[in-house]
Amino acid sequence: MTGSAPRVTGVEIGALIQAAAARLQAAGIEAPTREARLLLGHASGLGATRIMAYPEQVIDAVTAETFQRSIDRRVAREPVARILGSREFWSLDFTVTPATLDPRPDSETIVEAALDRIPDRNSALNIIDFGTGTGCLLLALLSELPHSFGLGVDRSEAAARVAAGNARRLGLAGRAQFIVGDWAGALSGPVDLIVSNPPYIPAGDIARLEPEVREHDPLTALAGGADGLDPYRVLAPETARLLRPGGHVILEVGQGQADAVAGLGVATGLVLRELRADLGGIARAVVLGKPALSRK
Ligand SMILES: C[S@@+](CC[C@H](N)C(=O)[O-])C[C@H]1O[C@@H](n2cnc3c(N)ncnc32)[C@H](O)[C@@H]1O
Repeated sequence: MTGSAPRVTGVEIGALIQAAAARLQAAGIEAPTREARLLLGHASGLGATRIMAYPEQVIDAVTAETFQRSIDRRVAREPVARILGSREFWSLDFTVTPATLDPRPDSETIVEAALDRIPDRNSALNIIDFGTGTGCLLLALLSELPHSFGLGVDRSEAAARVAAGNARRLGLAGRAQFIVGDWAGALSGPVDLIVSNPPYIPAGDIARLEPEVREHDPLTALAGGADGLDPYRVLAPETARLLRPGGHVILEVGQGQADAVAGLGVATGLVLRELRADLGGIARAVVLGKPALSRK
């Protein structure tokens, strides 16, 4: 025996989670234990389920330290998905980076509304996703439509690169292309289906957003001009130009924007098919269609 202090070789999972959850709760995090398990599951490589199942298992000191650093980041209100580097959307795993919006569960409403407009999922459709970010809307749709092809457009080159990487990881790269562009730009149709979740936060509301959003989502993914509707003023006529007769456009909107966005679409000659609510009961998806050509 030398006289040196014994080395700390590890800490029990249960004790780590308890201490971390207490710190998260004190920082105002809503689901502290669940988030602590997710973060330890990631730091240890064990996954959240095993963290929950084996509280007596000992974690080595290096992993415990990595975990503490991730708890420090969460206490500073960095979103869990950004600490993990990925987010589950439509049961698919998407890489998230500082260049991309962290996909929201409410946006799955857009995917559901789009799929409900497609009578045969085996048909070969052309799809465009404007403001693609991680590519979550387009890639979720392509995962359900095995013979369709899609184009994702984003003004951010870094976001378009992340989306292309997500397509490769999900095995969808053969049917998805991502380009850098300012909305429709010089694109031409006809297109069967258009989806978009554009930036729609009114300028005056940005400062009041939660720190998770304000400090971590890119401003270019949030800011929709003075009333939040600027992107729709461009997208409405451009989607009307690109859609084939009988095609659909599904636009995500912020709370209280559905009627105004529907009005912008109808003013371009599109027909309002549906306003679809998200799980919180907020009208989230504006579904517009281009009338089919009448048969003589
Ligand atoms: C709210 S995010 C949506 C990202 C993703 N579709 C999702 O639902 O998670 C809006 C996206 O639009 C992109 N964007 C903003 N202005 C644009 C423009 N003029 N042309 C193309 N994309 C734009 C942003 O870079 C951002 O990725």
